[in-house]
Amino acid sequence: MLQVWILQGCIVGAMPKNPYSYGGPVTGRHFAGRDAEVAALVSRMRNGVSVAVTGPRRYGKSSLILRGVEAIRAESGAVASINLLHCPSLDAFASRLTSVAFEIPGARWRRTRQAVPEFLSRLSSRPTVTFGDDGRPAFGFGGLDARDAGRVLDDVYGMLAALADKRPAVLVFDEFHAIADLGTGLAGVLKALGDEHPQVSLVVASSKRHLMEALVVSKGAPLYNMAERLALGPIEPDALLAYLRARARSGGKDMGEDAALEVCTRAGPVPYDVQRLAYEAFDVAGCRLSFEDIGAGMARVVEHETPDFSDRFSARAPGQRRVLVAVAARCGIREPNAAAFAREVGYATPAGTRRAITSLVEAEMLVVRDGVWVVADPFFAEWLRQL
Ligand SMILES: Nc1ncnc2c1ncn2[C@@H]1O[C@H](COP(=O)(O)OP(=O)(O)O)[C@@H](O)[C@H]1O
Ligand SMILES: [Mg+2]
Repeated sequence: MLQVWILQGCIVGAMPKNPYSYGGPVTGRHFAGRDAEVAALVSRMRNGVSVAVTGPRRYGKSSLILRGVEAIRAESGAVASINLLHCPSLDAFASRLTSVAFEIPGARWRRTRQAVPEFLSRLSSRPTVTFGDDGRPAFGFGGLDARDAGRVLDDVYGMLAALADKRPAVLVFDEFHAIADLGTGLAGVLKALGDEHPQVSLVVASSKRHLMEALVVSKGAPLYNMAERLALGPIEPDALLAYLRARARSGGKDMGEDAALEVCTRAGPVPYDVQRLAYEAFDVAGCRLSFEDIGAGMARVVEHETPDFSDRFSARAPGQRRVLVAVAARCGIREPNAAAFAREVGYATPAGTRRAITSLVEAEMLVVRDGVWVVADPFFAEWLRQL
């Protein structure tokens, strides 16, 4: 029997799932645009060229890398990928790196329990091995120092290099800035390994601009001249609009071009914000998404985030709060250092506003986009406007 649902006035064939996704890295149907960046990244991964993916948070660095990794794996390439934020210690780093090396698709030792001894024979260190319920091994390290961890890195890099003779080989470190927390030596070890094994593509990503400068970009950085920079900007507007409309359609609702544009305008350039607003607007809409639905979607996000917004706001100094409110009220400001703006927000001199703005930029609450200082988060800006 065919089951139909009547949902907010629409007859739909099945209870539709919300077609948008925000949070972790996206791929497949949830990934919009960026054809040129994907092609550039995959080509470099395939050819042993190292890449540093940079860009503000939530612009889609991890998603882009995931796309690249999927493409390389589909060509039977060898990929070992870890997120350094999941490695709070050198032991955790060594353990994760060893696990992903063990799971490299197509490697001879891969994944069977019997293969563990052969795999271990390729390591210069001796981890403990335990097997989970799923039969997969976990490799335990205890009390490693930076030199020991460097040796584990050396082993895994060497395994990838050996595989690189026949197919692409890629080592990914997402949230690369966190390598600095693991000790000073590892970035230098990576540079030496990159020089020794140029056939392996090392891909690193981070949104921490200053830390990436210090690690990769500036002269004298440990990885200077090793990685090509791929700086992510916003998703191409046409692709994003087409994506928003196609996803709405797949969820059984219609989104006109003007509504898609309104979502992008209100959410701003950060893909996470666009997906989040589209998600909420889709949820409240009937068969066709209207501007009112988008406004209601905006209100929903603001409502969910209000406790966090109040905490973040009340943690700032009073002057910084006044700057935030003023910047949000004007939807951005071109000349925050002008004397008139300083007076408006209660500072005696522009030096006061400058200090407040520097601090708000460091806290990622304000950003400069196209020469205009704006509140980074469009939902926070909306909340500030309602104060
Ligand atoms: N290419 C994309 N298409 C659609 N949405 C994207 C894209 N890239 C990122 N997003 C959105 O942004 C969110 C964060 O993406 P992520 O890759 O984790 O960003 P980053 O690593 O830069 O912080 C995703 O959950 C998704 O909602
Ligand atoms: Mg990321």
